[in-house]
Amino acid sequence: MTVTAIVGAQWGDEGKGRIIDYLAQQADVVIRFQGGDNAGHTVINAFGKHALHLIPSGIFNPATQNIIGAGCVVNPQSLLAEMAGLAAAGVNLDNLWISARAQMLLPYHRTLDELEEKARGKDTIGTTKRGIGPAYADKSARSGLRIGDLLHPEWLEARLDNALRTVNRKLELLGGEPVDGQALAALVHEFRQKLGGRIVDTVPMLRRALEIDADILLEGQLGVMRDLDWGIYPYVTSSNPTASYAASGAGLPARAIDHVIGVVKAYSTAVGDGPLPTELFDADGQKLRDIGQEFGATTGRPRRCGWFDGVAIGYAAWLNGMTGLAITKLDVLDHFETLKICTGYRLPSGEIITDSMPDTPRLYEVTPVYEAWEGWLTSTEHCRSWDDLPRPARAYIHRLSELAGIKVDYVSVGPEREQMFAV
Ligand code: GDP
Ligand code: IMO
Ligand code: MG
Repeated sequence: MTVTAIVGAQWGDEGKGRIIDYLAQQADVVIRFQGGDNAGHTVINAFGKHALHLIPSGIFNPATQNIIGAGCVVNPQSLLAEMAGLAAAGVNLDNLWISARAQMLLPYHRTLDELEEKARGKDTIGTTKRGIGPAYADKSARSGLRIGDLLHPEWLEARLDNALRTVNRKLELLGGEPVDGQALAALVHEFRQKLGGRIVDTVPMLRRALEIDADILLEGQLGVMRDLDWGIYPYVTSSNPTASYAASGAGLPARAIDHVIGVVKAYSTAVGDGPLPTELFDADGQKLRDIGQEFGATTGRPRRCGWFDGVAIGYAAWLNGMTGLAITKLDVLDHFETLKICTGYRLPSGEIITDSMPDTPRLYEVTPVYEAWEGWLTSTEHCRSWDDLPRPARAYIHRLSELAGIKVDYVSVGPEREQMFAV
């Protein structure tokens, strides 16, 4: 039995979806442990190309139980739309479950997200506007509704009435329209009819899974640099995509986690605002975007691109307690004569930092210290083993692994399921 957490080691969009799709071929259970439909986890396999938002990336294996965990915020409308898309592609959904303890994200959370971003003026966070922040804020304020509430209509109605009193005041303050309580109650009733049969208490399920030594994957959303506590606050998401939260968000004891795989792109990208120290504004940045097709899977926004950040990976590896790395998009670097790797941040004082991430205001002021690496200028797309890789590519990966202080478990050289190998 193994319980493996798969987490983003950078700013998000590292390729978590494709790694989980690959590993889920052998997994009994996959659990999304945080986030909501702000995720866009792209999977390309025999069912076509799918950007998964809420549904765990193990859904393509009918033998895998897929659970949306308690740590998630679930927009039932967008879940139903996602289910319809997958069903139309012939994907079996009998193995999809939602934790009764997951929060319910309602249309007013999206409205609030938009209005709050607008109210920030030029100091936006660049959220996906999916209502994630307001839904987690309600959870913490204890005014959220949970998915399990759908199974208790009277309780739900009272909770909704209670929530709307505050929500409508907030909406008014931000210049929005008040919520029509009756229309919302009808919508929620529809959610009960359509999703009620998938709502579960995950505890007995997961106790049994541990007892029978099942293989369990815990799927993180986003990456450590957008972690609510350890990322580039306030330019973060409103939950914790790091492995420490994986057990709690999934509903397992912390000690159950055996492995933590950090998914890391062979270079850096980010969508949304906030510091990205190695960001490139030149032709190399554009080249990474063009070749890597770096556009957000959820919002379609162009991703900011830059060289690999060795400081961020060291931080991510330590904070997550990573046991292995999965390096993605190596093939995108096939076209560069010279590559750069950031090995330290120079502060205005001249001091060089290598072993932690400066807090946000200081991070804006750092200058990356780079070392140059020889490119390989040959296609890696057809490589299926470590030995297939060109020598400079192996040297480059070695350096990334050294900076992380972690061994490399997997390398991916293209977006399709088979374009990946274990090292
Ligand atoms: P996630 O949110 O971490 O699952 O990552 P996204 O799906 O948002 O972004 C990763 C993008 O890179 C997707 O479009 C994937 O299809 C693509 N991708 C993943 N791995 C590779 C790879 O090794 N090579 C190339 N060229 N594309 C990849
Ligand atoms: P995956 O799972 C990349 C970013 C937003 C913004 C910040 C907060 O595909 O890696 P939010 O909507 O969560 O309140 O936005 O986080 N962000 C993502 N960036 N990939 C994602 O998901 C993201 N989800 C949120 O751009 O900067
Ligand atoms: Mg993504």
